[in-house]
Formats: sequence, structure tokens, C-alpha cells
Amino acid sequence: MRSHYCGALTTDNIDETVTLCGWVDRRRDHGGVIFLDLRDREGIVQVVFDPDTEEHFERADRVRSEYVLKVTGRVRARSAETVNPSMPTGEIEVLGKELQILNSAATPPFQLDEYTNVGEEVRLQYRYMDLRRHEMQDRLILRSKITSAVRNFLDNEGFLDIETPILTRATPEGARDYLVPSRTHPGQFFALPQSPQLFKQLLMVSGFDRYYQIAKCFRDEDLRADRQPEFTQIDIETAFLDEEAVMEITERMIRELFKNVLDVELPDFPHMSWADAMERYGSDKPDLRIPLELISIDDLMQQVEFKVFRGPADDPAGRVAALKVTGGATISRKEIDAYTDYVSIFGAKGLAWIKVNDIDAGVEGLQSPILKFMPDDVIAQMMQRLEAANGDIIFFGADRRNIVNEALGALRIKVAEDIGLVGEGWAPLWVVDFPMFEEDGAGGLTPLHHPFTAPSCSVEELADNPADALSRAYDMVLNGCELGGGSVRIHQRDMQEAVFRILGISEEEAGEKFGFLLKALQYGAPPHAGLAFGLDRLVMLMAGAASIRDVIAFPKTQSAACVMTDAPGDVSAQQLRELNIRLRQAREENKPAD
Ligand code: AMO
Ligand code: AMP
Repeated sequence: MRSHYCGALTTDNIDETVTLCGWVDRRRDHGGVIFLDLRDREGIVQVVFDPDTEEHFERADRVRSEYVLKVTGRVRARSAETVNPSMPTGEIEVLGKELQILNSAATPPFQLDEYTNVGEEVRLQYRYMDLRRHEMQDRLILRSKITSAVRNFLDNEGFLDIETPILTRATPEGARDYLVPSRTHPGQFFALPQSPQLFKQLLMVSGFDRYYQIAKCFRDEDLRADRQPEFTQIDIETAFLDEEAVMEITERMIRELFKNVLDVELPDFPHMSWADAMERYGSDKPDLRIPLELISIDDLMQQVEFKVFRGPADDPAGRVAALKVTGGATISRKEIDAYTDYVSIFGAKGLAWIKVNDIDAGVEGLQSPILKFMPDDVIAQMMQRLEAANGDIIFFGADRRNIVNEALGALRIKVAEDIGLVGEGWAPLWVVDFPMFEEDGAGGLTPLHHPFTAPSCSVEELADNPADALSRAYDMVLNGCELGGGSVRIHQRDMQEAVFRILGISEEEAGEKFGFLLKALQYGAPPHAGLAFGLDRLVMLMAGAASIRDVIAFPKTQSAACVMTDAPGDVSAQQLRELNIRLRQAREENKPAD
């Protein structure tokens, strides 16, 4: 129908007759001349109708916002005084000759250019309208460019795109499963994959050597700005490559992606051990754009009477750490109170602080509610260790190690955002040397990644001291966001069984849930390793969006629902009967007829 996209017209097209199709972005009547801003996915161009073309002028007069039009006209230069420099097509306009109304439109539920005032719920309810906005179009176009570049890269590196099932068995990645009842096997359920983890490993057993898939994953977990119940991974697996090789290929992929799509040259990716990341940043995904670090002061606090600090300092599972904020002495008492409330979300019982007014004046030059609890020489040593300077504020956390890390780790980011300490640009890194397991809070151990991750020790060493074992896992982190994670996998049955045992999975349960994997490991499973990137997070970062919802065409709300289609929804009594399901709280209309 069209000869050109609206947004693609330039001064090169002057004097050409063009046919455009699109939506009316805006209509203005200027004393007998009608201006239509016509929009398509490439942009907007101004079309002018004057009364000379009577029939078409009359139609132009009737159109309203979001009508769908086909317009034919001649491209002409705008006069100097009407050039619009804020519009890519602002040097030209189309003098309309013919106008066909392809469809009318009801009054839109919201103005497409005033969306900031519109609640997200309304945006999601009318998502097809929301997606007409150029910001949203640009983001989805970027997403398409990214997947295309990723496919190109992986195709060139010899990776094969292989699909894996959606109706499957539970794959443990730490979330709840979405279940699908089976009609043909009454009382039994499929699980939607939390990731293609086991299938991609089995493809390595089959000899495909290099696999990738842009794969949908499903996890029933609490949602946040960077989590959706249904999301997409760039899922990768390789045989005969170790962690260094997998990190090399995938880092090169991300590097080329940023270069090709954003023309950005990423800096080096430092490798940081998990223990180091927790010690210095209180996080396994540190944002290295922020120049603040946590500093341990346990040894110093073992010398004070102050119980709040002394207790955790003496406790091997405790930690006392300081977060020095350069220039933070201007933070008010009220703001400190707000930060104290903030860290309490993470379980911190308080937030001690010291302001440095005059470092040369010793304790006299400091201001703090906790100085009275500490001897002067300890305070002096602490100031030295922290390299405190005039104008600093120092925050303290003392508690179980994970509470201190979470609380001060989060405070580090919050304070940096509040007082403008987050640097510009991109700060990638690899986090490596993760522990194999963490405590599950009920006296047991749970895998830090998934239970198919290889430890960096022997079966015997693992069994002897599982709590201290490290894994051969690696996470890629960018600007404080976990972009992707992977590992070298267990490829030998005895090791896999040892890990299941440590996790408290009985032989019987292991056989029932993962028998197919254990069997496959017996038939010549090669050493293999892989990784998965969160595509939505990658696009979010590259698009500069605040939430992954903004880079997904039809995302779910915070309560994991789709307000546009009203899913999840009721099903008929007959469907339930066929599935052999009776609802515990049967709604009237769904009560079985019998
Ligand atoms: P993992 O669970 O770390 O690893 O997931 C890999 C990446 O997927 C992204 N991601 C999510 N994105 C949006 N919403 C979610 N709910 C969500 N959950 C995870 C993150 C994360 O880094 N099978 C392993 C990978 C492997 O070992 O190869 C896995 O799924 O960016
Ligand atoms: P208190 O003696 O309880 O009044 O505490 C003195 C100071 O220590 C206050 O500023 C508290 O906010 C702070 N504080 C209390 N508990 C902790 C803790 N676990 N970690 C850090 N600071 C704390």
C-alpha cells in the first residue's frame, strides 16, 4: 500500500510523490489549512491538506487522533520559518493530494504523548496503544536488533539453535514451578521449564557440541523490576570447553553486541571472587560504577565493650563493617533516620554513624552517638583504616554476616544514588569462585546456583566439607545487574549423586526426579559447560529502561497477571472435569454437575 515509511522521508525525497500509511498522531486546523502528523513505526511526518483538494480536504477535516490513513502527496521543503529542528523529518512536509480513511478510531484511553501521567495498569490494559508510542517502539526494535546480533554471533561461532520442550518436568532453578495438568494422565502434571538446563546438558551428551536457544523460561516467584514470571534467556551450552573458554566466548559476544548495536566499547571485565565481592560490596552483583566499599572492622570491635558491635565481632558468623561515604557529612539527621528505616528492611537492627568534622582534632572532631562506647585509640585506629577525611560520614553495620552484607550493600547503592555518586558508563565484571552451597535456614544446604554445577574439588573433598566447597560457576554482572550466570557441569554420575546426597535428596527421590539425567551421565557424557543470559535484563540495560516490563511487549503485572487479556482466568466446569480437577473452593458456576 505504501511507497515510504513516514519517518524515513528526508530532503532527498523532495518533489517525489509518495504514498504513506499510518496513524494520525495529531491534527491541527490552521485557518483553513489542515495539518496531520502521520505516524508509523519509523517516525512522524507532517502532511498538509489545503482546500484546493476539496474532497480530500473534507476527509482530512473529519479525521481524529489514531485514525488509520493512506495518504498520497508530494514531498516539499518547509519554509525556513516552519522548519522544526526537534523533528527528524522537520525540514520537509507532504502536500496531501489524496486521503483514504482505512479505519476510524475511538477516542484513545490516554494521550500517547502524556503517558507519564498514566498509571502502568492502564498502559498494560491498553498495551497495543501503549506500544504505539515511539519510546516503546524503539525499545522493541532495539530488542529485535539485539536478538538478531546475538544469533549472528552464535551462528558464526558454530552454535546450533535447538528447541527444547515447554511441557516438561520440574527443572530446579530455585523458584516455584508453573504446572500444567495432563488430561491424558489424570492427576499428573507437566511443569513449565524454569530453564532448559537439563535438556541442554543432554544435547551435549548427544554430541551437538555447541547449543543455543533464545528460550522462554517460567518461574513462579516474587516479582521485582528485573523479574518476570515468564522471561527469556539467551541459553548456551558447550562440550569440551572449560570456564575460561565459556567466559571468553560470551564476553566477546556481549562486547560485540554493545559495539554493533550501541557503538559502545565496553571496558575490561575484571574477575572477582564471590568472597571478595561480598567483603567489599556486600553483594554478589556489585555495581562498580559506585566508588564506595565496605570495610571490615571486626578485629577493632573485639576490643570494645559496646555489645552491639562486640557480639557480632566475636561471632564467627557475624560481621562488623563500615561504609564510608565521601562528602556525606551533609546528610541530615532526618535522612539518617530514613536510612535507618531502609536498612531495617534487610533485618538491620540499627544504623550507627560517625560524621567527620575535623579529623586532626581527634575524637573532638567527630560527631556520633556511639563514640562514648569506644576507647579513643580504637577510634583513632578505625579512622586510619578507613582513611577518613573531613566531610565524610561513616555508617556501621553489626549483625550476622549476611544481614550486614545485605543492609550495607543496599545502603551503598541507595546513598550513592541519592547524593549522585553513581558514575557514568558501563562497569562489567565476572564474579567467580562461588560457594557450592548455602544454608537453607532449616539446617540443610541448598545449591547457590543449581544442583548440576560442578564443584572445584573431588567427590571425597566435597563430601567431607560441603559448606566450604567452591563451585565452577561464573556470573556476568553489569552495572549492578546480574546479566547472566553459568557453570561447568557435573558430567559424572558419582559426583552428581554425591551432590544430591548433600542436598538431602534421597536415592529414591533422585531416581524419580532425575533418573533420566543420571542414566545419561553413564552413557558417555562429555565434560560440558554453559551459561544463560537474561535477555530482558540485557535489553533493559541497553535501552536505558527502568524495568524489564518496558522491554517486553506484553509483560505481566506485579501480581503476575495480564490485565489486557485478563489472564489467568476461569475455566469451564467441563474443562476441569476433563482434567480430572475439582477446585477446593469451587465457584458456583464451576461446581461439578454430578
Ligand atoms: P539463572 O537462574 O541464573 O541460571 O538465570 C540466568 C539469567 O536469567 C535471568 N533471569 C531472569 N530474568 C527475568 N526474570 C526472571 N524471573 C529471571 N530469572 C533469571 C538473569 C539470570 O542471570 N540454567 C541456568 C543457567 C546455566 O547454568 O547455564 C539458569 O537458569 O539475568
Ligand atoms: P543503641 O545503643 O541501641 O541506642 O545504639 C546506638 C547506635 O548504634 C544507634 O545509632 C543505633 O542505630 C546503632 N545500632 C544499633 N544496633 C546496630 C547494629 N546492629 N548495627 C549497626 N548499628 C546499630
